Amino acid sequence: MRIETLKLKNYRNYDNAEIEFSDTYNIIYGNNAQGKTNVIESIFLCATGRSHRTSRDSELLKYGSGFFEILLKYSKENADEEIHVLYSSDERKKISINEIPLKKIGGLMGHLNAVMFSPEDLLMIKQGPAERRRFMDMTLSQLRPSYFYDLQQYAKILFQRNNLLKNISTDKKLADTLEVWDHHLAKTGSRIMRSRKLFLSRLDTLSGLRHSRLTNNEESLKLNYSPSFEWQEIQDGDDLEEEFIKNIKKNRQKELLRGSTSIGPHRDDIDITLNGESTKIYASQGQQRTSVLSMKLAEIDLMKEETEESPVLLLDDVLSELDDRRKEYLLDNIEGIQAFITSTEKRFFTRSTENAKFFIVKQGKIKGE
Ligand SMILES: Nc1ncnc2c1ncn2[C@@H]1O[C@H](COP(=O)(O)OP(=O)(O)OP(=O)(O)O)[C@@H](O)[C@H]1O
Ligand SMILES: [Mg+2]
Repeated sequence: MRIETLKLKNYRNYDNAEIEFSDTYNIIYGNNAQGKTNVIESIFLCATGRSHRTSRDSELLKYGSGFFEILLKYSKENADEEIHVLYSSDERKKISINEIPLKKIGGLMGHLNAVMFSPEDLLMIKQGPAERRRFMDMTLSQLRPSYFYDLQQYAKILFQRNNLLKNISTDKKLADTLEVWDHHLAKTGSRIMRSRKLFLSRLDTLSGLRHSRLTNNEESLKLNYSPSFEWQEIQDGDDLEEEFIKNIKKNRQKELLRGSTSIGPHRDDIDITLNGESTKIYASQGQQRTSVLSMKLAEIDLMKEETEESPVLLLDDVLSELDDRRKEYLLDNIEGIQAFITSTEKRFFTRSTENAKFFIVKQGKIKGE
């Protein structure tokens, strides 16, 4: 996959920008707070339908403007496509692909695939499970629109079921309807959990390999899926749903007391360990960064395997934080992948610059060199 051009209008601190990219490395540099991340963010938004920094589209609108627009043209193995995003303050965001408006954001999934690595990704290790679920969801949604729809559906079911649990305390008759919601929850929830389990077992292998190479076989990185209840996979595939229902019934009293759903994919986590020890507790900053890097490289590997196309790689402020060995390994291993790399320094990029294109960003203006 190759992004050819990007146009921004009233996006963040950009009035109007038109950028033509290189097929290989795109180095976007400039001082702090000039608009480097904003460019990367707009690309990520075209891939996933949302910013990696905020879920509020209104924040993306240039102060004082009534609308913003992104137009991104890219080529794939068999097709050229363009994604157009239009947001105005009085309407919802509208997205079209090749000028055909999408009915739902889910329609965007699987068109432009992007892997982002930004400082926020370190939260995946440092913070709670929500960050780790987000990581799984971002990747799986890009790979499979059906996963994205399941997530949306699950969120609705969970919301309704939690409301019901709360309302039962004042209206006991409602308890009769709970079982129907158990089934809805278990059905959609099981699909999400199965996808995550499979995804993590593949990612575990791939990131383990990446990590061994990055650390000269000194460290072993393991990713383990950690669901809210355990189940045994059997052939016919219906066991998970049954187990889900069984567990939810076990927790009935607790759920009614708390007014919230106790098990399901919204409680999933990933155990990330280095040489058997929790990365969150024991790993140094550099080890945490390297672990995330291994996971991101594995994400690229997996996307390539699944789609037979390379995703584009968005590296925001991370390259300059890696030591030389890791930096070189990373650059060696993204050959053939179009990369967008931001940095405050131009000279951190030590490769032959034949194919690379440099862009300087200053106060919401970007200029190719
Ligand atoms: N909605 C908006 N309208 C106008 N300007 C905005 C908006 N949102 C953010 N900005 C401005 O964009 C700038 C930040 O852009 P960005 O995050 O891309 O910076 P950066 O070049 O990546 O900086 P750093 O090197 O610190 O990461 C800030 O000056 C901020 O005030
Ligand atoms: Mg930035």
